[in-house]
Amino acid sequence: MLLQHLLPALTLTTAVLSLTLTLSPSPNHDSPAQSILTSPPSPFDDPDCDGTGLIDPNDPNNHCTGDGLILPAPDPDREGFRFENPSTDCQYVTQMHIWDSFKNLEKDMSKLFTLIHKNVSFTVVGHHPIAGHYTDLLHFYVNALRRVSVLFMEHAEKFEIHPQAIHGGCDSRWSVQEVQFKGVMNSGDPFDIVNVWVTRWYRDQMVEIRTYIDAPKIMDALHKNEIWWNGTTLRENWRYMPGPAGMPDLRELEGLLGYPNGSKYEN
Ligand SMILES: *[C@@H]1O[C@H](CO)[C@@H](O)[C@H](O)[C@H]1NC(C)=O
Ligand SMILES: *[C@@H]1O[C@H](CO)[C@@H](O)[C@H](O)[C@H]1NC(C)=O
Ligand SMILES: *[C@@H]1O[C@H](CO)[C@@H](O)[C@H](O)[C@H]1NC(C)=O
Repeated sequence: MLLQHLLPALTLTTAVLSLTLTLSPSPNHDSPAQSILTSPPSPFDDPDCDGTGLIDPNDPNNHCTGDGLILPAPDPDREGFRFENPSTDCQYVTQMHIWDSFKNLEKDMSKLFTLIHKNVSFTVVGHHPIAGHYTDLLHFYVNALRRVSVLFMEHAEKFEIHPQAIHGGCDSRWSVQEVQFKGVMNSGDPFDIVNVWVTRWYRDQMVEIRTYIDAPKIMDALHKNEIWWNGTTLRENWRYMPGPAGMPDLRELEGLLGYPNGSKYEN
């Protein structure tokens, strides 16, 4: 049953791929399309696989993938990422554009300002200091992204972004991404998490986002690297650090200083 439904999909994919090869030959090196064509045939489930997804893991002759899905070919230009839907004929956004969008942030965070619409509706799900709903990009950037990214500034060259999975997109206006963020924090500690981004696209931009982040790791990063959070007995408080409330009126406070008998300090 499942197999039958997938056959037209495979034919369509093959058609799209051959079209890509004809239209855009890559002169210098093995093009993605070429290696797709020369890679071994997709491991379809054998007719004697039942397609239930339930496979006896102890069966040494087990060669069924169980889900009836075709393993997509790796894209050599995109870390061997296997696009579920490599179509470039999309109503909303290609999966390749999604991959590139997240990858571009690795070396240049300012790409964010064209990748996400300025009036984005942005929800950071969870219970942690950067959680909440943002109704525009700049508030998200200042309150959340920049606050976290300064924790990595001293090792910016070690910061890595690797999309792990992309679902949807193309003719679906929503897509789901699992994205690995990896780096070394200013404290020297390694950092390695996977966040989920649920995104709605309009003209190659994200206009609505719900992201599910690894809250304990973010809190740990803030705790280890942000002076607001990481106080210890040993800290010398030689400068003002007022926290989110900002500075009070120092002149007014200075006016209150004095001896118990009401006289003022000389200096
Ligand atoms: C963004 O939102 C503001 C305030 O609602 C509106 O005036 C502006 O036109 C919007 N900009 C775009 C590009 O949608
Ligand atoms: C706290 O964070 C600051 C950076 O803002 C860092 O210089 C300091 O070493 C950290 N202290 C502790 C105890 O982690
Ligand atoms: C008030 O107290 C300070 C400090 O003890 C002292 O220097 C000053 O002379 C006192 N002033 C008066 C008016 O007693």
